[in-house]
Amino acid sequence: MTAPIRIAVLRERATGETRVGATPETAKKFIALGAEVVVEAGAGLTASIADADYAAVGASIVADGAASGADIVLGVQGPDVATLAGAKPGAWIVAGLDPFGQRPRIDGYAAAGFEALAMEFMPRITRAQSMDILSSQSNLAGYKAVISAAEAYGRAFPMMMTAAGTITAARAFIMGVGVAGLQAIATARRLGAQVSATDVRSATKEQIQSLGAKPIFVDSVAGIEGEGAGGYATEMSEEYQKAQAELVSAHIAKQDIVITTALIPGRAAPRLVTDAQIATMKPGSVIFDLAVAQGGNVEGSVADETVVRHGVKIIGYANTPTHLAADASALFSRNLYNFLSAFWDKEQGRPVLDEEIGNAVRLTLGGKVVSERLLA
Ligand code: NAI
Repeated sequence: MTAPIRIAVLRERATGETRVGATPETAKKFIALGAEVVVEAGAGLTASIADADYAAVGASIVADGAASGADIVLGVQGPDVATLAGAKPGAWIVAGLDPFGQRPRIDGYAAAGFEALAMEFMPRITRAQSMDILSSQSNLAGYKAVISAAEAYGRAFPMMMTAAGTITAARAFIMGVGVAGLQAIATARRLGAQVSATDVRSATKEQIQSLGAKPIFVDSVAGIEGEGAGGYATEMSEEYQKAQAELVSAHIAKQDIVITTALIPGRAAPRLVTDAQIATMKPGSVIFDLAVAQGGNVEGSVADETVVRHGVKIIGYANTPTHLAADASALFSRNLYNFLSAFWDKEQGRPVLDEEIGNAVRLTLGGKVVSERLLA
């Protein structure tokens, strides 16, 4: 019998990162598949998981050299090559590797002979939905954005009829209705706000309505679907952008809360809210820019800071899911488990990827960068 494969779970070292790439639940499941799980001491602490919780399900806890002898290393963000010392030749590095932002590190994985698998390159196909870290984390981010905006807002969200008089409902406008935006709509609705939303993809109109919110759409520019490969947005024409800006200007002046979530893969986030538009909003309004780390949808937003412009608070976190570390870790870890277990080869006692998903997520192999998206 061959030795069980060893899966290492490293403590995250990136500034502000609070999540962990495996929970006791997923560690237990990997062990049930026949793997050995090694957890670096303290790896789960910022996600409210004690070392003892991992030990209780049969994982071993090591203080130093957690990657030593590993066949697979799990992380949330990509580990530095230095922290991978002793990992087996060809070991899999499975995490959100930020392939475009961390190219030198990816080259380092190649040079060290590791097989790096970038979870954010998971194809958007039905069978990979449970492996999709972008979805699981965006969903939580959309929720947290609304909660944080509500916290910063000096008024209540729901309409309240009290003996002392009536409080009107807050008006919330969600810009960008992907995974995060849909959750933001649902959360703002649950809190009692009057919600409206916009997107460039016309397919989202129905989704907005089905959540009980009002769609705000550019209808004057004909023939636009706004949807490109993989269901993602495409960059819009100048004519469209102008019409969108006018529509938004008229609408935004009446909003109390604005949540922006718009992203275009591989490009800087589109600018959706200008300083001139902010100036038309009521003092005390709050804007949460979920795209702040990708360049920002909102003029003047700064990651992890509250900027006040024209009496409007503009907030946004560099890494929103880290503000819900326990749930974000639970979902992220399940994404990693769902991925590896879906390909588990019982005879070999390890995962063996198929072409469709393997070729999409694999960045490095045999000492080279092999990802088409990185080489393009
Ligand atoms: P994203 O995070 O890339 O972008 C967020 C939203 O911003 C998108 O809805 C996009 O259309 C919108 N946007 C971009 N530019 C804009 C602009 N100028 N103005 C207004 N809105 C703008 O999107 P996300 O959340 O990743 O979702 C993209 C699509 O992928 C959705 O259709 C989603 O349902 C689909 N999806 C499919 C999955 C699967 O089948 N496995 C998994 C997750 C998402």
